[in-house]
Amino acid sequence: MKTDANQPIGVFDSGVGGLTVLKHLIQEMPDEQFVYLGDTARVPYGNKSKQTIEHYTIQCIDFLLGFNVKAIVIACNTASALALEIAQKHSPIPIIGMIEPAAHYAIESSLSGNIGIIGTRATIHSQAYEKAIQTYADTIHKEAHITSIACPLFVPIVEEDWVNHPAALLIAKEYLSPLISKKIDTLVLGCTHYPLLKELITNILPDITLIDCGYTASKIMTKMLGIHSNQDSSSISKRIQLFTTDTVHSFNVIAERCLGFTLQDPINITTEVLEHHPSEYAKQSASVKY
Ligand code: DGL
Repeated sequence: MKTDANQPIGVFDSGVGGLTVLKHLIQEMPDEQFVYLGDTARVPYGNKSKQTIEHYTIQCIDFLLGFNVKAIVIACNTASALALEIAQKHSPIPIIGMIEPAAHYAIESSLSGNIGIIGTRATIHSQAYEKAIQTYADTIHKEAHITSIACPLFVPIVEEDWVNHPAALLIAKEYLSPLISKKIDTLVLGCTHYPLLKELITNILPDITLIDCGYTASKIMTKMLGIHSNQDSSSISKRIQLFTTDTVHSFNVIAERCLGFTLQDPINITTEVLEHHPSEYAKQSASVKY
């Protein structure tokens, strides 16, 4: 695919979770510009209906399209599971989601075929991962035994920056213990917030390959755009614009932890912008550099 180096790549999530995806995108494509939107006023998406998730996703896509982005990464498994198809139909530019790349990688990584999936309630109920894993397993004649668990409290734990709180360990034990008896060797972190809980998860499920969907999606996006990175992290341009729909007290702390460098404060656009003229914002705002 032919792309313009001056056009940014759009990334969105319901909150801070997509920053774990942005980290991998920057590592793969350090010379690119990125526009990140965290719909923090309406997080979590994971407990909402398909109709609402589709509605929010289209608004976020339109906001990013206003920046003349060349491609969009839906850095949210919930929106990928429930709204990728409608988003792709709606958009004139390529959009990739989290599910397919991670599902393929899970099958390739697993020796036993015993694979666990954790995600939000909406992602798990959609069975998007199960279908993608099973389809790929059938294609390459591999066995897959899948166990899926919804972990709805993990997102607020991350958004509140409670990852090291004793309550987080108790909740993680409650959610993840059933996976021990399933003898899984691979666990898909089917929510972009969960890489921030890797240490906690490894405490309960040691010696298991964790699939980080941000890593797998960034590989696909790099290939799709035909970008050949020099892999020199010192050349990271840090040309990143961050937007949120509401203030988040821990946003900068989490952003710094994810990305390894300090960013300017995100611009709070409020949901008004998304509800009314999302694609007009970039043109009208003087604070926007693109
Ligand atoms: N980070 C998101 C995901 O990957 C969504 C969490 C949420 O909004 O519930 O599913």
